[in-house]
Amino acid sequence: MNIAVVGTGYVGLVTGTCFAETGNHVICVDIDAKKVERMKNGEVPIFEPGLELLFERNTKQGRLHFTTNLKEAIDKAQIIFLALPTPPGEDGSADLSYILGVAKQLSKIITSYKVIVDKSTVPVGTAEKVHDALAENLDENLFDVVSNPEFLREGVAVDDFMKPDRVVIGTTSERAQKLMRQLYEPFVRQGNPIYFMDERSAEMTKYAANSYLAMRISFMNEIANLCERVGANVDSVRIGMGSDNRIGKRFLFPGIGYGGSCFPKDVQALAKTAEEYDYDFKILKSVMTINTIQKTVLVKKIRNYFDNNLLGKTFAIWGLAFKPNTDDIREAPALHIIDELLESGAKIQVFDPEAMNNVKRIYGESIEYINDEYDVLRGADALIIATEWALFRTPDFEKFDNLKSKAIFDGRNLYDVNDMKNRGLHYESIGRDAITINDLKSV
Ligand SMILES: NC(=O)c1ccc[n+]([C@@H]2O[C@H](COP(=O)([O-])OP(=O)(O)OC[C@H]3O[C@@H](n4cnc5c(N)ncnc54)[C@H](O)[C@@H]3O)[C@@H](O)[C@H]2O)c1
Repeated sequence: MNIAVVGTGYVGLVTGTCFAETGNHVICVDIDAKKVERMKNGEVPIFEPGLELLFERNTKQGRLHFTTNLKEAIDKAQIIFLALPTPPGEDGSADLSYILGVAKQLSKIITSYKVIVDKSTVPVGTAEKVHDALAENLDENLFDVVSNPEFLREGVAVDDFMKPDRVVIGTTSERAQKLMRQLYEPFVRQGNPIYFMDERSAEMTKYAANSYLAMRISFMNEIANLCERVGANVDSVRIGMGSDNRIGKRFLFPGIGYGGSCFPKDVQALAKTAEEYDYDFKILKSVMTINTIQKTVLVKKIRNYFDNNLLGKTFAIWGLAFKPNTDDIREAPALHIIDELLESGAKIQVFDPEAMNNVKRIYGESIEYINDEYDVLRGADALIIATEWALFRTPDFEKFDNLKSKAIFDGRNLYDVNDMKNRGLHYESIGRDAITINDLKSV
């Protein structure tokens, strides 16, 4: 098939590349001319494991192309995917201006039947809005609008796209359904389902899934905070509860709040939809409040340890990306920590295997970027762990000599508490006993 993908970010580029991998001819279009130039020159503009190999193969074999020209991209396409941003507007609702703007442009340049697919995460009713925007200048027989939310996770996006748990397709058009089934069949050969449903249900499915996952994380963060107060260990609790089949083991890890480009904005947007329909969605409101508070718990522990005086103290931070295996720092908890510490007059030196350039664009010279996980400890009063990169799981503690106060504040519970005690480190994590200086005296 001939496919066009509008918006070549984390979702669009993976979508386009994976469709090319299954033999389609794909043109990706983006308004960011610099990014398009880089991709034309063979450079993958984001870090996503496994993407480079597929990108290289499909560009070399002539199935994957890039342009800034929308008309050129869609001319031959049977299906046009919109993988555009849907950031939160000022009131928390999803900003649809990117999607509707492109829909309007398309309405003026489409000349033969096309399926327009909302791949972006969009509120219930958006397919109708896109339909109306197209219909302003276009005969209704020349297009169908489909909602096809994307469930890929950054860090494993290629795997998720190539072998999805399920594909959700919202459309009431038989013609569009047939084309979409044909396109997705190579991805579900192992028997995973393609669910067809109406557009509104498909749009709701995506928000329900993300909000549920955000809720699970927030629930565990609350359990962790309570564990600290009652003297329980959240790791044991997590394993004990997660082995119940009704609950399941995944998404039960407490931490320093969920981040990323999806959960925060999607929870907010669903809450806004509820508000618009005069529905008081109580759990979602709590999820947002819990997450805001959870982002502050590690800095509270740090303040406490340093008697509320962070002025002139130096902190090393391991991990900046909102999760491992990505360079994406949107809404990353690490940024919140950096802001709080800078405000308190602390100095910050950071290390992340992939995300440092993106952070540099925000913080410039106000923090120090160090390319080695041990060098970054030099002269630091404490180490803060903000992202659970595999690299940090089994460090060489012998190389911690650089660290002045031998204190670690671990927002990701990477280490065994007793092991830290035996190593003589001050160690505080989430939902588990803190190893304090008094404990160390008894070692
Ligand atoms: N990132 C994820 O993990 C993920 C997962 C599932 C769904 N989603 C959803 O997918 C959508 C896209 O997310 P993303 O993370 O890929 O965003 P992104 O910001 O990484 O990429 C968006 C791209 O669209 C381009 N763009 C903006 N306006 C354009 C226009 N008029 N024409 C062409 N290109 C334009 C931007 O330059 C950018 O390259 C969002 O709705 C998001 O919620 C994201």
